[in-house]
Amino acid sequence: MMPKSLAEENMILICQNLKKTYQDADKVIPVLEDVNLSVKAGESVAIVGRSGSGKTTLLNLLGGLEEPSAGKVVLADTDLHALSDRKRGYLRNRVLGLIFQFHHLLPEFTALENVCMPLLIQGLPVKTTISRALAILEKVGLSHRVEHKPATMSGGERQRVAIARALVTEPKCILADEPTGNLDNQSADHVYELMMELIREFGTSFVVVTHDLNLAKRMDRIVSLDRGTLVDGLLSSA
Ligand SMILES: Nc1ncnc2c1ncn2[C@@H]1O[C@H](COP(=O)(O)OP(=O)(O)O)[C@@H](O)[C@H]1O
Ligand SMILES: [Mg+2]
Repeated sequence: MMPKSLAEENMILICQNLKKTYQDADKVIPVLEDVNLSVKAGESVAIVGRSGSGKTTLLNLLGGLEEPSAGKVVLADTDLHALSDRKRGYLRNRVLGLIFQFHHLLPEFTALENVCMPLLIQGLPVKTTISRALAILEKVGLSHRVEHKPATMSGGERQRVAIARALVTEPKCILADEPTGNLDNQSADHVYELMMELIREFGTSFVVVTHDLNLAKRMDRIVSLDRGTLVDGLLSSA
């Protein structure tokens, strides 16, 4: 077998010829036609595009939350959709951090418990879990809120809990869907600064869907989703 090129070895996330169509009653809705993307270890990529262009669909496929209609996703050298649900969940828990728009915090649990969850799923001892969760909650500035439940926190605080939960496993790659979409400008800036700081510190790859061009421009590169494919750079129409 040919040795892999260094460039290839350095990729944490690759998608090839990714296609997704939805079936709505008897109507076929093509969303992604042919999407190709390679994300290097430590690289940050912004995905921009019109509302409805398929950005969330793409992140769901990259995170193994939905099945592609064709094509493949390779995460940490593993064909994500060839795995059983259990193995895919395992890989996602080890390698990915997900920060989605409606952060999916568990409402009946405190901030601390929410952040502990991914580590408990990994089977780490409770004591280790709590100390790592407290450390990351401190980094996101929430030491004073660890016993609070999501319903009693502000939007910005909840989003910081979601970020802490995504980072607590020290994932190789973070997927974020409009992570500041529901925050005011000042909280959004704060959350972004924080994410960038942590990503640099941990050398995490970062794929972020965003409307915010100021944020997008801080990434290593920008790709635009347009008519079902990804193109390099910023489209004037996007
Ligand atoms: N589960 C679904 N069933 C049918 N259509 C869907 C589904 N999810 C998304 N779509 C459609 O796919 C298109 C892309 O949606 P989405 O990925 O949410 O776009 P974006 O995040 O860029 O706004 C939209 O036309 C949307 O209506
Ligand atoms: Mg979306």
